[in-house]
Amino acid sequence: MPSSPSAGLPTGPCVVVIFGASGDLAHRKLIPSLENLAREGLLSPSFAVVGVATRPWTNEEFRSRVFGDGASDSGDSAGNAARQWLAERMYYLSGDFRSPETYQRLRELLINVDQQYATKGNYLFYLSTAPQFFSEIPQQLDRQKLTSETGDSWRRVVVEKPFGRDLKSAQELNETLRETLGEQQIYRIDHYLGKETVQNLVAFRFANGMFEPTWNRRYVDYVQITAAEDQGIGHRGRYYDQAGALRDMIPNHLFQLLTLTAMEPPISFDADAVRNEQVKILKAIQPISSEEVPRSSVRGQYGASASGGVIAYRDEKYVAADSITPTFAALRLMIDNWRWSGVPFYLRTGKRLPKRSTEIVLCFKKAPFTLFRNMGISRCAPNLLILRVHPDEGISLSFDAKRPGAVMNLGNVEMNFSYQDYFDSQPQTGYERLLYDCMLGDATLFQRADMVEAAWSVVAPILEYWQETIPGDFPNYSPGTWGPPAVDELLARDGFCWRHCE
Ligand code: BG6
Repeated sequence: MPSSPSAGLPTGPCVVVIFGASGDLAHRKLIPSLENLAREGLLSPSFAVVGVATRPWTNEEFRSRVFGDGASDSGDSAGNAARQWLAERMYYLSGDFRSPETYQRLRELLINVDQQYATKGNYLFYLSTAPQFFSEIPQQLDRQKLTSETGDSWRRVVVEKPFGRDLKSAQELNETLRETLGEQQIYRIDHYLGKETVQNLVAFRFANGMFEPTWNRRYVDYVQITAAEDQGIGHRGRYYDQAGALRDMIPNHLFQLLTLTAMEPPISFDADAVRNEQVKILKAIQPISSEEVPRSSVRGQYGASASGGVIAYRDEKYVAADSITPTFAALRLMIDNWRWSGVPFYLRTGKRLPKRSTEIVLCFKKAPFTLFRNMGISRCAPNLLILRVHPDEGISLSFDAKRPGAVMNLGNVEMNFSYQDYFDSQPQTGYERLLYDCMLGDATLFQRADMVEAAWSVVAPILEYWQETIPGDFPNYSPGTWGPPAVDELLARDGFCWRHCE
């Protein structure tokens, strides 16, 4: 992804208001990202943070809680200075998100903060809360005139995932948000877009002349997108059992990878130009009828490991003992446009798979066999272009080479680029770029209402079918395997097989 328009320059004056400031996301990602931005000199001197949550903390407690115990000295002087600078301008407001009184007090606090830090009435409200507050908070803010943009001041709202749980609820949420906010004020976040390698996908495709000519149905046989996790659901049973693998990962994270891989070159890197191309891909995905669901999708749920060391999904905390929630989902999608007609895109994601790995693989059509036909070479391997999103970020290209020796024999080799070999950078949380762009008003890496709705439309028939048809075979895969056996058939029917991430 290109640099933001003002990349390298500090943001303008503003206050970041984090709802749900005592939660995990604020602690693990948001505050550390602001700290990294401060360290890089990318925050305005006129900057402050206000945390809002129900816990009865003071400003001091908030600061020490989010920075943790060892926070005061990381042994890195620039890092310590940034943390100190940030801590001095962090405030906390304890209150119930449902109570109008919380918002009256927030308004008063913001007036004071504006005066003290010259933040000019520019507010970024970050909804790091449970989804039931995504409509309530903007409405309450609106009643206090905190979302209306007057004069030169801007007001923006970042909405975390999940953005709805199906098409209808996403449409309703969009409608409610639009009652109090303009579309340009709404930043629907998908943290996958904050990952360097996801942004690099666009650079790779459009900053290099040699790949794009082969990036189409003439040369590509199929595309695989994998987001595998070796962990289970941790303490998130309450949320996860209502969501499941498809809702949790596919219409958001995997569709970001899909659309950036498949989209046409945008006419510019303007937010709408990029998002217009992404949404065209979502709309070009062939609708799946309910009859086609069993052949175009696979769902799975992990059982216990044979050794008993890993418990079954149904035994996890807050999960129903007869849960039919999938912890694994795979889809076969076809994109009906000139570039991709006839090229299947296979997506898979799951918990308790053999390893943590997110990658995109383009499998190129095989070379014609004529040259080697009489040489005892049984097959030429297809060329694979593998974009490793996480971990071990990088790109590799596999191809056949002659094995040394008197006889003509081929071996598969790899050209490999690893991010860490080339670029030296401070560890990032993935939220830096997203927060920075949001403060600059660049929405390129955020989802537009039509994208979210188009994504839910694609998965709607599958969600409905899965809801109505009880799977007879759950649990159907063991921890540490690549999902249920049916996932191999999804590709085998087309004559392909999954690349099992090494
Ligand atoms: C979240 C999902 O959005 O993304 C989690 O709710 C998942 O279930 C996570 O584990 C994966 O993100 P990452 O950045 O850890 O690959």
